[in-house]
Amino acid sequence: MAHMTTPVRKAVFPAAGLGTRFLPATKAQPKEMLVLVDKPVIQYGVEEAVESGVDNIVIVTGRGKNAIEDHFDANIELESFLEQRGKTQLLEEIRKITRLIQVAYVRQGEPLGLGHAVLVTKNLVNNEPFAVILGDDVIDARPPALKQMIDVYNRVDGPVLAVERVPMEDVSSYGIVAIDESAELGPGVHRIVDLVEKPKREDAPSNLAIIGRYILTPDIFPALEETARDGSGEIQLTDGLRRLLKTRPIYACEINGVRHDTGNKLGFLKAVVYFAMRRPDLAEPFRRYLESLNLNGH
Ligand code: G1P
Repeated sequence: MAHMTTPVRKAVFPAAGLGTRFLPATKAQPKEMLVLVDKPVIQYGVEEAVESGVDNIVIVTGRGKNAIEDHFDANIELESFLEQRGKTQLLEEIRKITRLIQVAYVRQGEPLGLGHAVLVTKNLVNNEPFAVILGDDVIDARPPALKQMIDVYNRVDGPVLAVERVPMEDVSSYGIVAIDESAELGPGVHRIVDLVEKPKREDAPSNLAIIGRYILTPDIFPALEETARDGSGEIQLTDGLRRLLKTRPIYACEINGVRHDTGNKLGFLKAVVYFAMRRPDLAEPFRRYLESLNLNGH
């Protein structure tokens, strides 16, 4: 009889970071609520999760993150206003996101790193496989990036990390994986033989970078509990995975799609332009505007 994997029903969104790179915009507003065209960054990730079959979201928050909770909650006053004005399309748009998913919140308390953020979801995730989505990495892909990973997970029945080749000069910004080059387990699917968080260029075992999507199994929790803090006092998810690798195979999956790192200003601006150009109502006038800038040289 074919072995059935346990379905991935839950996705964890770490969102407790202070967003210092976007100050002053993030002084009184969570960075996850910064807007790409007309949607907050975190909603792109939540929609990806929903389109990938996930129906439970766990958002890891901290102080000053209330706007995220309000965003994913019903707003009865706004809904009845839109209803009275006959703005049915907008009404559907704002109802869609609250109706499709169940959202739970847990506070991280102290900013002790990504591994710690995952660890605080232990009781909510419980004993089943789950996804981790880092909202800063916005991935435009068909099928959605997480769906591509779930398909791989269903075949390999073990943790799957999304990876992408990056220029060697950028490896120190990422978790980097070394893979078994001798065997590809399907297009872009590899077995991981080592992982290292933000290595110096000369220490990097490859240029395959983890890009903010993980499918994890519950044995990551004890592995993280046993993981030592790094030099800056944080528990790194990459270090926890390195520990887990001693006890089970872990896989890397290259994603077919376009990734934007919206966690830095240039990446954020590129993402705004990219998504604006994919909007039928904006693409043409926006293209004309961009072309006019080129022509005038400013
Ligand atoms: C985190 C992870 C890193 C990963 C990256 C992807 O780093 O620690 O392994 O490659 O996300 O975006 P951060 O960007 O939070 O510093």
